[in-house]
Amino acid sequence: MKHLVHFNTNHWYYLALGGLCILLPFLASRMEKPAPLIPTLPADFPAAFTQYATVQRPDGTLRDLYINTPALAAYGGGYDLPDGSILVITGCTAQQDSAGKWITDQNGRYTCATAFDSLHLRAKRRDWPDSAFPGDDRNGDWNYGSFTPSGAAFAEPITPCFQCHNTAEQPDFTYTFRLLAEYWRTQQVIYSFCDQTGRTPC
Ligand code: HEC
Repeated sequence: MKHLVHFNTNHWYYLALGGLCILLPFLASRMEKPAPLIPTLPADFPAAFTQYATVQRPDGTLRDLYINTPALAAYGGGYDLPDGSILVITGCTAQQDSAGKWITDQNGRYTCATAFDSLHLRAKRRDWPDSAFPGDDRNGDWNYGSFTPSGAAFAEPITPCFQCHNTAEQPDFTYTFRLLAEYWRTQQVIYSFCDQTGRTPC
């Protein structure tokens, strides 16, 4: 009798152990959380992007504007951009002469001297979770990010992005919508002279 009890205990022990061996990897794989959905700089930037414009300002800044090429292909020339659109703006300050004046070529255009530390991104998708936003501000389906050129997060507040772009008078919270539409029509990168300084919209 004693022997039998001993045997039974062992039996259940091995059965439970076997069950655990089968279940644990399964449970672990179920518990692995997917990476949280937040704006990131795509690894294929700039290769999978198309430059549509450059904006030059009198404060010696030059900014290049890009859209992910699949979104450009899906854009039909209308007043809003397709789901999955990613817009990126990079910048630099221009070359100066010895007197500190911005050097321009015969067309009045600068040449880049020093790239900005950060680049800005806007990404449009319907499925951003609330946790992907810094606060309650929304610009339709757009979210914002600031990155170093290698794609690491650049430490700057994101809420002002929403607040300024919210006032864009052009479609889809996009200040350069007209430039993008013009690129779409002409297939020429649009060079735009803005007479304002800083981030003041033209
Ligand atoms: C005070 C206004 C202002 C703020 C704040 C601002 N932007 Fe912009 N943004 C602009 C203007 C104006 C343009 C158009 C390009 C230009 O004239 O320099 C622009 C253009 C862009 C573009 C190119 C597509 C488009 O909308 O035209 C991206 C991407 C962008 N901004 C991202 C950001 C991000 C990310 C932030 C926050 C880190 C931010 N912006 C904050 C004014 C602003």
